[in-house]
Amino acid sequence: MSEEIAVFENKSSLVDAVTIDLMNDLKGEIEKYNLALSGGNTPRTIYEQWATIRDDTLWSKAHFFWGDERCVPPDDNDSNYKMAYEAFLSKINMKENQIHRIRGEADPEMEAKRYGDEIRNHLPAINGLPRFDWILLGVGTDGHTASLFPNAENKKKLPEVPSLREVDVCVVAQHPQTGQKRISLTLPVINNAKKVTFLVTGDEKAQIVHEIFSHSGENKSSDYPAAQVKPKSGILQWYLDEAAASLL
Ligand code: 6PG
Repeated sequence: MSEEIAVFENKSSLVDAVTIDLMNDLKGEIEKYNLALSGGNTPRTIYEQWATIRDDTLWSKAHFFWGDERCVPPDDNDSNYKMAYEAFLSKINMKENQIHRIRGEADPEMEAKRYGDEIRNHLPAINGLPRFDWILLGVGTDGHTASLFPNAENKKKLPEVPSLREVDVCVVAQHPQTGQKRISLTLPVINNAKKVTFLVTGDEKAQIVHEIFSHSGENKSSDYPAAQVKPKSGILQWYLDEAAASLL
């Protein structure tokens, strides 16, 4: 694994960097580019900038998945799909089969299985697991990422959920405060990616970033789910604005 930390003066320059990275990846030799989008609020401005890029040839290579989804219908304001569709996917020419939506309206256990099969059917595999070209992630102030939340009892460890030990592609999770069901990629699949980039902005994330980075090396792995993202044969990037990096 190689790890890169980039601190940007502000969110706008972070958005520009992520956009340039994607354009460079799509301009490469690659025929099909499998990207997992992050949910939450941070990536909205990134997706809005991508919507301004009118290059059908480039976009024709991209297949969009999600790292996680709330178990709500696609027209629900809580839906990660709805946010990305309205900000970006609805504004560029794209075939329907390039958008791989997690069906938040479906039975969670059945959808976790279905979506895992869809990912396996579309992605190349290494180490017996599907390999994304790029996974975008955020970090919650509790150290969660995607919808992998710290154990409710012990705020720092992953819950003892069988799927997180077994090598499933997707898992059903539950938000510890709201109880909302979620579908999430599992840690083994995240750690099988070619590139994983955390997008973290704002001073409210400074403390969790500090805590994740204050334990170097293996110590980090005993803490928050976000600290357990270590793509074994890939690149890990932390894209932070100065506010989120202010305690480093
Ligand atoms: C979700 C995300 C989640 C998010 C973090 C950060 O579905 O909410 O996948 O992991 O990335 O909670 O969210 P913000 O970007 O809104 O701070």
